[in-house]
Amino acid sequence: MPRPLKILNVVGARPNLVKMAPLLRAMKRHKEIETFLVHTGQHYDERLSDVFFRQLEMQLPDANLGVGSGSHAEQTAEIMKRVEPLLLRYRPDLVVVVGDVNSTIAVSLTAAKLGIRIAHVEAGLRSFDRSMPEEINRMLTDALADYMFVTEECAIENLLREGRPRERIYFVGNVMIDALHQSLPLSQSSKIGDELGLVNGGGWQRFAMLTLHRPSNVDSVETLHGLLEGIVAVAEEIPVIFPVHPRTKEKLDSSKVAAHPRLQLIPPLGYLEFLSLMSHATMVLTDSGGIQEETTALGVPCLTLRNNTERPVTISHGTNQLVGTDPAKIMRAAQDVLENGRKPGRLPPLWDGKAAERIVETILTITEM
Ligand code: UD1
Repeated sequence: MPRPLKILNVVGARPNLVKMAPLLRAMKRHKEIETFLVHTGQHYDERLSDVFFRQLEMQLPDANLGVGSGSHAEQTAEIMKRVEPLLLRYRPDLVVVVGDVNSTIAVSLTAAKLGIRIAHVEAGLRSFDRSMPEEINRMLTDALADYMFVTEECAIENLLREGRPRERIYFVGNVMIDALHQSLPLSQSSKIGDELGLVNGGGWQRFAMLTLHRPSNVDSVETLHGLLEGIVAVAEEIPVIFPVHPRTKEKLDSSKVAAHPRLQLIPPLGYLEFLSLMSHATMVLTDSGGIQEETTALGVPCLTLRNNTERPVTISHGTNQLVGTDPAKIMRAAQDVLENGRKPGRLPPLWDGKAAERIVETILTITEM
């Protein structure tokens, strides 16, 4: 029997887990592949990590680097130092990285210097805003990747503009939507709606979901307070459920939050609970990247509290609109959804739940060459 293809897969932060789960599942269907899963430990809280392994029915990591939090340089450097001996020991044929977090670039850079081939899943997305740490991570990871798997067509243009070879770019769809397809039915038996008092008489009442964690929105207390002013105005109309990311919690704890009885702050949710709420929400207000995509797939109106997006297909095809951070604009956009419902949306090409299988089949073909 020929030697198996050794693939080392990398996760670090919460959204990586959602993207990696379908990929691992697809890899395990092919007996010619041997998988190894590394968790860098960038996210380590039960609520940001362990619960996702359980709910996504993922294999536990073969290695956890336990890097934890730190400045960008500290975190990136620590991951590189800790992953290098592992790469030397395991000697994978391919490293698969997903998304745009510090773990993505740190492992890519280490692998590239060791001459190990790299596949980047979710390549080519660009916000054209270099003040976002993720934009730096995306550009550098794509500069190093041997194979680039893209979720939307504009990513192909972005990569070509940066001089990446066309024959290394594969338009495959979106693994985050694969995970959503798999988990949405399970999420519907979650009791989170009842627990939060959003279900009465058997039906869901109108409510909004809010998530905020982008450094540009939450690291300055003034900006965060400005945003929350807009949100409180939305809470005048409908309940707003706000699962608070640890980065945001730190800031809220050290300042006075604009309280409103219908703005409900709760700890971060598991994937199934979050899906359950998102799929029943009247609208979602967010600065996350992945949630812009998930709301597009679910047909739920999404107001993105940023001035740019690296995922333009969620606007051209989906239910997303860029609203920015001005409280008056947030309120106007929310009012418009409440009065007129959602803007019509359609599913972007290839967001059909089969992206992971396409990626794995492509990997098997290209690594034969
Ligand atoms: C990271 C990613 C971001 C992604 C987000 C998803 C980078 C540069 N950023 O942002 O792209 O959208 O994950 O959640 O990689 N903390 C905890 N528990 C944890 C992890 C972190 O309390 O398990 C706290 C720490 O105080 C830490 C802060 O959250 O300093 C930020 O964590 P970090 O991993 O640096 O970035 P995120 O903001 O989570």
